[in-house]
Amino acid sequence: MTNIAKGLEGVLFTESRLTFINGTEGILTHLGIPIQEWAEKSTFEELSLALLNGRLPSADELAAFDAELKANRTVSQQLLDVIAAMPKGVHPMQALRTAVSYLGLLDPQAEETTEEARRAISIRMIAQFPTVIAAIRRAQEGQEVVAPRTDLTHAGNFLYMLTGREPSAEQARLFDIALVLHADHGMNASTFTAIATSSTLSDMYSCITSAIGALKGPLHGGANEAVMDMLDEIGSPEGAADYITGKLDRKEKIMGVGHRVYKYFDPRSRVLRDYAEHVANKEGKSRYYQTLETIEKIVVDRMGSKGIYPNVDFYSGTVYSDLGIGKEDFTPIFALARISGWCASVIEYTRDNRLLRPDAVYTGETDRHYVGMEERGSELQAAEG
Ligand SMILES: CC(C)(COP(=O)(O)OP(=O)(O)OC[C@H]1O[C@@H](n2cnc3c(N)ncnc32)[C@H](O)[C@@H]1OP(=O)(O)O)[C@@H](O)C(=O)NCCC(=O)NCCS
Repeated sequence: MTNIAKGLEGVLFTESRLTFINGTEGILTHLGIPIQEWAEKSTFEELSLALLNGRLPSADELAAFDAELKANRTVSQQLLDVIAAMPKGVHPMQALRTAVSYLGLLDPQAEETTEEARRAISIRMIAQFPTVIAAIRRAQEGQEVVAPRTDLTHAGNFLYMLTGREPSAEQARLFDIALVLHADHGMNASTFTAIATSSTLSDMYSCITSAIGALKGPLHGGANEAVMDMLDEIGSPEGAADYITGKLDRKEKIMGVGHRVYKYFDPRSRVLRDYAEHVANKEGKSRYYQTLETIEKIVVDRMGSKGIYPNVDFYSGTVYSDLGIGKEDFTPIFALARISGWCASVIEYTRDNRLLRPDAVYTGETDRHYVGMEERGSELQAAEG
């Protein structure tokens, strides 16, 4: 019998020097450096450049990259007008998909596919995603769009543009850490999608628009929002045990737990839990945090032996929520971080490009002939009956 790797599980289709994951031991490294060290010691800007370059940058390189990001934060009025004209009530991921595609229409370099062009476009997109995502939120709320500032970090400037208030240094750093944790994660569905698009030698904006579509789904980036929906449905920490036990008894999926690769704690979820706990202890345990603690305990007790543990999306929502961000923006924020991984992976893959074109085992009928419309009635009845 032919072996089918359902969901492409375990299929190796390329080599990469960017990210390593050991799912059984819960290890994640970028360029060989553990994610915990990136979170503790680095910044989103530095990790983005390191991923693009495939090595740690020098101080001068990082300063130049930071300046380039800052210089590219502003988006054109034409794009802001398109964002303002979008129907109210659409999901921000729908809006982001359209906005990024439109960004490509405005970029004279958009169709260039040399490594140099892909890199220049990547830097512009990394710089502009926060501006676009904040503008989408504010336009949806009927608020004035807030122009970017160049005296704030990438993370701090986003929070400022989103809320119109300058965040505290601690808030900006917490958000920066969340971005670091989400910046890259190997051959996940959206990165794979970006690479699949690039493998046809399509342009960078098409790659990233495809990736946004893949990230949007609740089994991938949409899970962080789904976790908050679940917490809202549960209502109070007291209701958590019955709710989760009931779901597990009915064999329903719990959002924010389980992972194709991790069969142990996702290390990113541990870092986020520590920060969520820190915030909770400082400001009084939020109901969300208490509910998640209860869910984690039950899931690990009942499902740990099956390799089901909290993933990155389990605690990210509470952290964002503590920063005053609404749940509809959680997935766009995932994109705001993952753009670096998408771009770096596309650039790495296209250096030794080969068209991605898997195959399926054909299980349909063979040896048939076309049936004319006048004879098709009985044939259709037979097929249905
Ligand atoms: C991420 C995910 C899609 C990975 O799925 P996968 O590798 O295809 O694994 P499967 O869906 O085949 O699940 C394998 C088994 O674990 C169970 N399982 C997986 N995720 C589960 C979850 N979130 N809650 C309860 N059970 C789960 C499945 O029911 C299945 O059980 P079975 O063997 O008795 O049929 C899956 O874990 C999931 O849907 N998680 C919730 C969504 C989420 O948080 N996504 C973000 C990922 S970062």
